[in-house]
Amino acid sequence: MKPFVYVTRKVPDEIYERLADKYNVEMWTEEDKAVPRSILLEKAAKADALLTVISDAVDEVLFSQAGQLKVVANMAVGFDNIDLEAASRHGVSICNTPDVLTDTTADLTFALLLATARRMMEAAEFVKDGEWTSWAPMMLVGTDVHHKKIGIVGMGKIGTAVAKRAAGFDMEILYHNRNRHEVAEEMLGAQYCTFDELLAEADFVVCLAPLNQDTRGLFQREHFQKMKNDAIFINASRGPIINEQALIEALTAGEIAAAGLDVFDKEPINADHPFLTMKNVVALPHIGSASKETRMAMMGTCCDNIEAVFEGRHPKTLVNKDVLQF
Ligand code: DGY
Repeated sequence: MKPFVYVTRKVPDEIYERLADKYNVEMWTEEDKAVPRSILLEKAAKADALLTVISDAVDEVLFSQAGQLKVVANMAVGFDNIDLEAASRHGVSICNTPDVLTDTTADLTFALLLATARRMMEAAEFVKDGEWTSWAPMMLVGTDVHHKKIGIVGMGKIGTAVAKRAAGFDMEILYHNRNRHEVAEEMLGAQYCTFDELLAEADFVVCLAPLNQDTRGLFQREHFQKMKNDAIFINASRGPIINEQALIEALTAGEIAAAGLDVFDKEPINADHPFLTMKNVVALPHIGSASKETRMAMMGTCCDNIEAVFEGRHPKTLVNKDVLQF
């Protein structure tokens, strides 16, 4: 009997065929709708492997019904949608897709920073709406990025890749992280700060920390109040790191100048979300890693990991290493 692999989102033929060559594969095929929870649970109950995405809750309820599940290959570097402790207890290997998305996500983060600072979305709308009738000295002026101070909260691989891009813009680089990053300090002149120092000094505060119990709700109203009034806040990691209501209030009160957001508390956001009425907010639909090359590489990593488990090897990007003792 071939192992049964359930894929929770429609993947390109190339990926589907790679899996179908070796396994009995089923896939959720509705492109604009996530797999309903009831179907995910029903499929997981029979699955030997799941290829999941970040909107799938992979939790104790799922594991307790998934008697033969061996591996969950999550198509993301983040794994906050997965209960790792429950996975290890149930003997299920959890794998993610680090490295292959680092530069692509850093590119998008920096593009979002530039777009927000230079009001690019607003300017593009202005042209599309036929409002561009003349050139004027202060028309759609934004703020400079070059030679400013960037404050990176979360100096992991993506944070470091953003710092490299910032160095190319002659920015002064501040960072806050659980551990000091000696390489970034030596190579890029990055300066370690406390969280409060970073908030007070940075012109651009960029959140790239992973979502976990230490970072959930990290940014509250008081933290936005500590930032400069002309500071720009960028979030390209996970929405729940921010108290969204506090950010809305800070933007409305002029405590910070603008925000560029690729992630939100509850995704997708509705068309009536307050952010969408704010001219000083650039909102993107969680596309940090969304280049064709990178998404193919992420799915390729998921396939590698599934194959490794069924071929008796350790998956390359195993997250819950303690599963090996079960
Ligand atoms: C990740 O990899 O964690 C992204 O947020 C999903 O693209």
